[in-house]
Amino acid sequence: MTFTFDEVLALLKGLDDAWLYETAQKRKREVYGDVVFLRGIIETSSYCDNDCKYCGLRASNLRSRYRLDADTVTAIARNVADMGISSIVLQGGEDASPQNIAFLDAVIPAIKAIGEVDVTLSHGNFPDEVYKRWKELGADRYLIKMETMRPAYHESLRPGRKYADRLARLKKLLDLGYQVGSGFIAGMPGYTDPMLAQDLLDLSALGVHMFSLSPFISTPGTPWADAPSATPEIVHRACAIYRVLDPRVNIPATSAMNVLRSGIRKDCLARGCNVVMHSFTPRDLRKDYEIYKGKGVVKDEAWGSLSETLEMIEDLGLRVERGEPGRSKKWRNDDERDA
Ligand code: 5AD
Ligand code: SF4
Repeated sequence: MTFTFDEVLALLKGLDDAWLYETAQKRKREVYGDVVFLRGIIETSSYCDNDCKYCGLRASNLRSRYRLDADTVTAIARNVADMGISSIVLQGGEDASPQNIAFLDAVIPAIKAIGEVDVTLSHGNFPDEVYKRWKELGADRYLIKMETMRPAYHESLRPGRKYADRLARLKKLLDLGYQVGSGFIAGMPGYTDPMLAQDLLDLSALGVHMFSLSPFISTPGTPWADAPSATPEIVHRACAIYRVLDPRVNIPATSAMNVLRSGIRKDCLARGCNVVMHSFTPRDLRKDYEIYKGKGVVKDEAWGSLSETLEMIEDLGLRVERGEPGRSKKWRNDDERDA
């Protein structure tokens, strides 16, 4: 279904939440039925070259950092696969060091050798040939968040980085045959509803396979440490709008939402989201991966235990399938569908 800019804006402002959430959930069920895709995420390194205004891992935030090696990550991935979770997400700071590239060169084929496991990478900008090689080594998906598609605002958020380059990276990944995920951070200072409305329309026009929207969470060690965090409503509405715009995409109930309000992922899954991630980063390192405040809290890792997550899904009348790789049912064209 298409919306005009004015319709998206009105829905973002809460004009008709009941209709929006009901329609989003209906569209999701038509495509994905009662299945929720569960992914295991391993945060491989907290080193980052960038200085994004919102992020606790920004390079100028002096803090302790870690790198996991390929053997450790492969061993964790094997455990995750043994639990029946066949979708592994590797995420790390944007780190163009030869060490990080060599790590990914080694770990992608090692995880693919485990068996029927899909691998998603979330490591930011790299040259075309590196993306190509990782695809050939078996990587299936790539998450590259635009954060916003308003060029000047984007560049103010990511000092030294060009909007056009980020967009070119995203398009390259699509051309290389990855299933590509992207999205934004709602509620950042200066990110207005009209900007988000236009971003939703622009990203859906690109035809990505997955849409991810985090609420902004104010975080110590960043220029926005004292800014207010986002409210969950804007995230619920924007995710539901995206589901109606493009029903076949994957949309996760993000961990950042759970940090904002514990237990809220249940509402996300009832309003059009169809993916849940569970962290398998070693517990003692999580405090060193605080992209946003509260993420690394070891108490319940802000996620609850895996059994709690599965219970929450069952309570909603939804289910997780063992061994389900969780591919998006969004295809860009018939070639891709037939592949
Ligand atoms: N609040 C919410 N999301 C954030 N991210 C980074 N910092 C924050 C924050 N303060 C998100 C970005 C990034 C992803 C790994 O985490 O979208 O791409
Ligand atoms: Fe680095 Fe990503 Fe944080 Fe930006 S959002 S500082 S690229 S880890």
